[in-house]
Amino acid sequence: MVKIRIIGGTPLEGSIQISGSKNASLPIMIASILTDQELILDNLPNLSDISRLELILCNLGAVIERGKNSQASINQNNTDGSRTRIKLQEFLSLNADYENVSKMRASFLVLGPLLAREKFAKVSMPGGCAIGTRPVDIHLDGLKKLGAEIEIEKGYVIARARNGLTGANINLKKQSVGATQNLMMAACLARGETTISNASMEPETKDLIIFLNKMGANIEVSGNNTIFIQGQERLGGANHKIMADRIEAGTYAIACCATGGRVTLNNCDDETLELPLRLLQEIGCNVRKTGDGILVENKNKELSPIEITTQPYPGFPTDLQAQFMALLTQAKGVSIINEKIFENRFMHVQELVRMGANIILDGDKAIISGNSTLIGAQVMATDLRASVSLVIAGLTAIGETVIDRVYHLDRGFDSLEKKLSNCGAIIERIV
Ligand code: UD1
Repeated sequence: MVKIRIIGGTPLEGSIQISGSKNASLPIMIASILTDQELILDNLPNLSDISRLELILCNLGAVIERGKNSQASINQNNTDGSRTRIKLQEFLSLNADYENVSKMRASFLVLGPLLAREKFAKVSMPGGCAIGTRPVDIHLDGLKKLGAEIEIEKGYVIARARNGLTGANINLKKQSVGATQNLMMAACLARGETTISNASMEPETKDLIIFLNKMGANIEVSGNNTIFIQGQERLGGANHKIMADRIEAGTYAIACCATGGRVTLNNCDDETLELPLRLLQEIGCNVRKTGDGILVENKNKELSPIEITTQPYPGFPTDLQAQFMALLTQAKGVSIINEKIFENRFMHVQELVRMGANIILDGDKAIISGNSTLIGAQVMATDLRASVSLVIAGLTAIGETVIDRVYHLDRGFDSLEKKLSNCGAIIERIV
């Protein structure tokens, strides 16, 4: 099986081009189900999750043309040249099967759009995953409010809306990103107005709103996490450049600080990373806005410990929790991380401990005693963000780290080894 081998100890120095956001790309591609017109998307990252979603959409009947520049852009460490066209004129199927949905939870978002456009959908329940049970009850309750009849049969959700969907007031019991996006897309083609309160205001949800409005939707947002959607009879085609991946940018910023380096992150937006960047400054790193990006530096500085709690945006993102934990093993003192979004999102802890970290778990709290000398080891990736925290630990550690189950990294990090080795890291893929 393919592995990643890292020889640690080299500070990252240079610049990194940040790719388009995975978590914005997925729902935006899924929005193609809402129209028979063509969507033109720029800045899609080259990731296995994107390829899997292409497959799911093609099974439904989409015709997808990936940008001719995609491969070239990987080689040049530049994703800007990739342009993708998606058109779903006629459906071949209204089913999304277990094989795909169980591997990528975001594909469950096809449910709302299929139901809205075709009045029927059969979509596999996503099932469990390494970071917790992750139910879909909020998605289903919301769709029922919009008038869907829902049955669960043999692990599949079978949803019908014989007379189409009707707008409704939906109050989400948790600020679920996926449920907000699923329901919002469904409501775009419902009759009348839908209000979603306690909605996700993640930047990726905002990018989806911008895109849906370009397609002809009528969506407005109010400051108190409420989204108003005026249903339309049909939506049309649109062009869009996917926002930069704030989690990728945050990950490289953290990696830079952990190795004592100096890196400029290009093509990214500091506003979507306001809190993580502020926390990097609070613990002693330098962070500065540049022309189209961010300069991050940690030269000869002792890092201070800190307490962090993951929260919905604009709080600290759970998707940067594992990476920050790897960094805090290097702080001078005891740090605390409270994980409030997902249960069981501490799978990386045991692997970091095997590398010499001193971390104790107490329910949803991790207590990190810093000042650890990490030593390279053989470690196992367990989920997407956990696996990149092991990359950060490997870059910081003395000696060789070998990371197994690299396919987790390929789901979410475009050209990871290339981007890091361009900044001086010793990192390669081995078989
Ligand atoms: C999205 C992101 C993921 C990120 C997460 C939280 C994508 C493709 N994925 O995942 O990277 O870590 O947001 O920022 O954008 N919940 C329920 N019932 C539901 C739905 C969710 O109880 O029906 C719970 C989940 O178990 C979790 C919490 O709500 O505890 C938040 O999950 P949610 O925001 O839905 O995460 P995803 O959309 O799956």
